[in-house]
Amino acid sequence: MRLIISDKGIGRLAAFFIKERIIEAKPNADKKFVLGLPTGGTAVDMYKSLVELYKNKELSFKNIVSFNLDEYIGLPQDHPESYHTFMEKNFFRHIDIAKENINIPNGNAADPVKEGQDYEVKIKKAGGIDLFIGGLGENGHIAFNEPYSSLSSYTRDKQLNINTVIANSRFFENDMEKVPKTAMTMGIQTILETKEVLLLVTGEKKASALQHLVEGAVSQAWPATALQLHRKLVVITDEAACDKLTVGTYRYFKRLRDEFSHLYAL
Ligand code: GLP
Repeated sequence: MRLIISDKGIGRLAAFFIKERIIEAKPNADKKFVLGLPTGGTAVDMYKSLVELYKNKELSFKNIVSFNLDEYIGLPQDHPESYHTFMEKNFFRHIDIAKENINIPNGNAADPVKEGQDYEVKIKKAGGIDLFIGGLGENGHIAFNEPYSSLSSYTRDKQLNINTVIANSRFFENDMEKVPKTAMTMGIQTILETKEVLLLVTGEKKASALQHLVEGAVSQAWPATALQLHRKLVVITDEAACDKLTVGTYRYFKRLRDEFSHLYAL
């Protein structure tokens, strides 16, 4: 695990990190680069920076295949708060990704179990996810894998935890009644099988979840802790989210600037 701790624009750092990975992989028509893509407030700045990189001709998404992590169940795709709308508005409509390379779970599938299984097959057919980008819920969820999710789960429908419904009500006129109570989400095992994971974690509200992720034991009570078992996990985070780390842990990661030094310099 690596923590990149910076207060200088987490979204921009993440976009540069992603750009480097895409360029290193030299994707082409036969060998596409596969991204796992998140939604959520923290991701907005990252998408802005990625769009900027595209507009400055520093990055193309022509040879990218994307798989979104999750989608609410029961919201029409064109609902202003659906993840389909979020992705279109914040990212896809501004870049050169091909429509047929975009994958988002269908939250209106007649058979959610089959939808989940089909999504896994599509990921496998694409060659697996090269870089999974995610956020972190206040309660330690990743994608919509809520506390007590199976740590060996694959894409499926999931009931949302009351804390998540409250946290996400800010997108639904602060009305909990309007927040969908179930979602389709990649599973923890789906995420563990990706080649690399990049998590974006900002703000004091995420401090407990980050502390568990970095210093806690692997536990289904804090699903993100399963990522300790991933071979390549990078967390880009700010000072506020580090509030609950021990001084020793914080200093350890601050000193480890090695291969990421140039990102700090941005
Ligand atoms: C939502 C999404 C997650 C996201 C999390 C954090 O519930 N399903 O994928 O990581 O919330 O979102 P935010 O960045 O808005 O705090």
